[in-house]
Amino acid sequence: MVVSKQDQTQGGSGWGAGASTSTEAALLRRYPGLQALMKRAKQRIPRFAFDYLEGGVGNEICIERNRQAFDDIEIIPRYGLDTSAPNLTTSLFSCDYAMPLGISPMGLSGLVWPKADEAMAAAAEKSKIPFVLSMVSNTDIEAIARIAPNVVWLQLYAVPQDDYRVTLDMVDRAIKAGVHALVLTLDTPMRQKRLRDLSNGLTVPFRPTLKTVYDVARAPEWALSTLRHGQPRFANFIPYVNGRRRPGDVAGYVDQHMSGAFTWDLIERIRQKWKGPLVLKGIQHPDDAEHALKLNIDGIIISNHGGRQFDAAPAAIDLVQLLKRRVAGRMAIMLDGSIHSGLDILKALVCGADFTFAGRPFLAATAALGAKGPAHLARMFEVELKGVMAQAGATEIMECPTLSYRMDRNKDFSGLNPDQSAKNTGI
Ligand SMILES: Cc1cc2nc3c(=O)[nH]c(=O)nc-3n(C[C@H](O)[C@H](O)[C@H](O)COP(=O)(O)O)c2cc1C
Repeated sequence: MVVSKQDQTQGGSGWGAGASTSTEAALLRRYPGLQALMKRAKQRIPRFAFDYLEGGVGNEICIERNRQAFDDIEIIPRYGLDTSAPNLTTSLFSCDYAMPLGISPMGLSGLVWPKADEAMAAAAEKSKIPFVLSMVSNTDIEAIARIAPNVVWLQLYAVPQDDYRVTLDMVDRAIKAGVHALVLTLDTPMRQKRLRDLSNGLTVPFRPTLKTVYDVARAPEWALSTLRHGQPRFANFIPYVNGRRRPGDVAGYVDQHMSGAFTWDLIERIRQKWKGPLVLKGIQHPDDAEHALKLNIDGIIISNHGGRQFDAAPAAIDLVQLLKRRVAGRMAIMLDGSIHSGLDILKALVCGADFTFAGRPFLAATAALGAKGPAHLARMFEVELKGVMAQAGATEIMECPTLSYRMDRNKDFSGLNPDQSAKNTGI
């Protein structure tokens, strides 16, 4: 993972102040920032699993672009205000979350750490932040809804077989399970070439090679845990494989049928079935955002799949203002891709996002520390966000978009120059 300079430097002694118990304080000392968690995850899991987590499409330029764009943002702080107790509570789709951050959907997370979906869902419930379960998760939606009844969202792919029967049936299952919001991922019309996975021989279904066996032998904790829990299965798909329940059968089905674009027609069909909040993930073009509005979509997650699908995609954060100008105030504008700290969350809000999500950091935290990892990370993000809001001069989330910022050293700061005053209007 391209980790920002700020991740490397955060974690001085002052951060102990964010811990409310001695266990938390000890964790903060050992893992004060994302970089320490990534390092631990890398030591603890096989190389192919770490590459699956960290890697991206092609030459991984888009991953770097996502990161660089955040690092380039500057914010002018405001002083003379009492910002000693920032309030992070954020209302989204009629739910109050503890902060404007959720966990992005990540399929096959069980490869990275056994039962990772369950660990992340439990942490999200405890931390009061949304957990988006991937359709290709390793625990099914019914079980996750029991673990995280107050914060569970579900992400779907378009599975074209039999007129999308699996995708549409999953909508019914989401309704029955009490899912809060449905997320349709649009940016995966076709499987893409991820060089690390190819060279590691990572296939679905998983077929061990000499190299992967060697990798596993070097990660005994992961190997034991995987032995105890069994090979990860695409749990949501078990009902659709005609009683063939072996991991290989289900994986074979997913491999054969999981590739297809969400068309606007299919989105419209889902809109008619699903009355709750409906979100499109992967939207990047303003015309697509406008099309979504016409179909009564409630929100978009500006995302390039964390640089895993299209290496020429712009950094997600660079698109916020562009999309905001088209659809501001009419739908929630969310974002993911390279949110590595509370400061990144603040930067996204200042640039006009209403809410943010992080993927790899939560899965890496799970790989590093097991079940306690994702809750530790959520707490770390929360403490960091409070700190940087106080520093920048905001006491409420809705005040963040009023701060002056620039994304490029050669440009003027927003709000200070009349030519640059594209307003951030929160939703
Ligand atoms: C291991 C892994 C699996 C992913 N699987 C999915 C998925 O099943 N569905 C989806 O919409 N996005 C998936 N994504 C993309 C994430 O939802 C998210 O867009 C991306 O990870 C955000 O970037 P970040 O990891 O830098 O936070 C996956 C990402 C990773 C790292």
